[in-house]
Amino acid sequence: MGNEDRRCAADRRSFLNRLTLGLGALVGAAMSIPPLAYVLSPLVGRPPRKWRDVGMLEQFPIGETRLVQFQDSTSTAWAGATAKTGAWLRRTGEDEFIAFSVNCRHLGCPVRWVNDAKLFMCPCHGGVYYEDGEVAAGPPPEALARYPVRVVDGKIEIETSPIPLTTSDFA
Ligand code: FES
Repeated sequence: MGNEDRRCAADRRSFLNRLTLGLGALVGAAMSIPPLAYVLSPLVGRPPRKWRDVGMLEQFPIGETRLVQFQDSTSTAWAGATAKTGAWLRRTGEDEFIAFSVNCRHLGCPVRWVNDAKLFMCPCHGGVYYEDGEVAAGPPPEALARYPVRVVDGKIEIETSPIPLTTSDFA
């Protein structure tokens, strides 16, 4: 192999190396767009909140805690069943309600209200919350989140927000 051939081979190798690096960088940049958009989206705009009708006043006896379902505020048209979320709604007075998020503050599993024990229980890692939503045991770092509730013309409405895992989600 002559000097000219060796130089051509080295140029070709160098070109292919640069092409491979360039394509790799391009693919890497393209793949990082969705996770970056997810992480940065809270800085761009606040997620939507909507008031959702969850039932009539007379459906909720005073002192009882019942599960209500409603559509998530951020759901898309094609979300189907995944657009549904829920809250534990307790009527505490004539026009007073508390709506606890069903999502555990640890990793978001749905908590269950156990009426006999007057506790919210999380099936995933043994998280337990008192009747007022404060942490009783297990890994949850803070109390269950609460949704704002209002009564309009005999209908109960909950102001939804994206699945709340931290206090700042309700700020
Ligand atoms: S998700 Fe509830 S305790 Fe871990």
